[in-house]
Amino acid sequence: MTTYRLALIPGDGIGVDVSDAAMAVVQAAARKHSFDVQATRLDWSCAHYLRTGEMMPADGIETLRGFDAIYLGAVGWPETVPDSVSLHGLLLPIRKAFNQYANIRPHRLLPGVEGPLRSTGFDILCIRENTEGEYSGAGGRVHQGRDNEVAVETAIFTRAGVERILRFAFDQARARRGHVTSVTKSNAQKYSMVFWDELTREVAADYPDVSVSMMHVDAMAAKMVMAPESLDVVVASNLFGDILTDLGAAIQGGLGFAASANICPDGSGPSMFEPVHGSAPDIAGKRIANPIAAIWSAALMLEHLGQARAANEILAAISVATAQHIGTVPGRDSTDTITAAILAALEDHA
Ligand SMILES: NC(=O)c1ccc[n+]([C@@H]2O[C@H](COP(=O)([O-])OP(=O)(O)OC[C@H]3O[C@@H](n4cnc5c(N)ncnc54)[C@H](O)[C@@H]3O)[C@@H](O)[C@H]2O)c1
Repeated sequence: MTTYRLALIPGDGIGVDVSDAAMAVVQAAARKHSFDVQATRLDWSCAHYLRTGEMMPADGIETLRGFDAIYLGAVGWPETVPDSVSLHGLLLPIRKAFNQYANIRPHRLLPGVEGPLRSTGFDILCIRENTEGEYSGAGGRVHQGRDNEVAVETAIFTRAGVERILRFAFDQARARRGHVTSVTKSNAQKYSMVFWDELTREVAADYPDVSVSMMHVDAMAAKMVMAPESLDVVVASNLFGDILTDLGAAIQGGLGFAASANICPDGSGPSMFEPVHGSAPDIAGKRIANPIAAIWSAALMLEHLGQARAANEILAAISVATAQHIGTVPGRDSTDTITAAILAALEDHA
């Protein structure tokens, strides 16, 4: 029997509730499809920080290296630990250490979910560059506090970094409906985005079976609202992808449905799977967190591990539940009710 070793980091607040739900579904799918998921629970969180002074142990990255995948609920407890500490002490080092350069987020309107748009059917896969670009952290400030103060933040785009995210997007499109929209702003950013466009054309030449269009980020934001059904795979830089995926989460009905994966495509390290939402301190402990984003993220994990049939069945089970309007109205159904409906639909699936 194939066995997968999973590092499970439930984190803080609702991260714990939704990762418990996701693991229940993963274990049910594993039993059905005769594979084994051995989850090792790691209590790395803000509570851990308050006890020890660190978000994860000094050898945390080395510990994670030995796993096939990492599953994260959510971290953050701003009342006691600044967000900069929780983010820079756990999430960002993991993404960086394992070269998880592709952040993928599916934006699909599930049956029964009433999104804010008139459009009722769209299925977009957003791929965000996760390691460089506008968030490279290169820059500085001088003359702080004075009238002549200056802040400089430099976006860094490398040929290797841009080319690999584009290739990843084209590969994904091949397995879907065969279209890539590359997000640009080359009318205004005449170095980085002109470079991005050139590389888009270069990479596209290697994928004659995939069609490509380039769209300025502002037009793209409008397109996601006006005609999301026309989009298949969307690939964007770190900043553009960050913003567009929040829009994507909104049009699919909110954070309760927004799944994500941080992929290390060359397999040199484990990839990390997590719902987009945070620890939601406002509803923590109330057992009303929607676990669908977390369960969908777990399906992305199983697909990545090579269990596509199990992953597809989980997605189908989520759709069965939402078609019955379970989990579609914020705060109405409990986390347990939604999880139970998805588990029941999974069991029913032949
Ligand atoms: N990847 C991560 O771990 C991650 C991501 C975002 C925020 N955070 C952290 O989480 C903490 C809270 O941040 P925030 O409040 O800005 O964002 P949040 O995503 O935790 O919550 C935003 C709003 O959405 C609601 N919400 C979120 N997920 C939900 C779900 N599954 N079901 C129902 N409602 C849900 C919350 O109740 C809240 O009203 C902060 O410490 C922040 O840094 C962590």
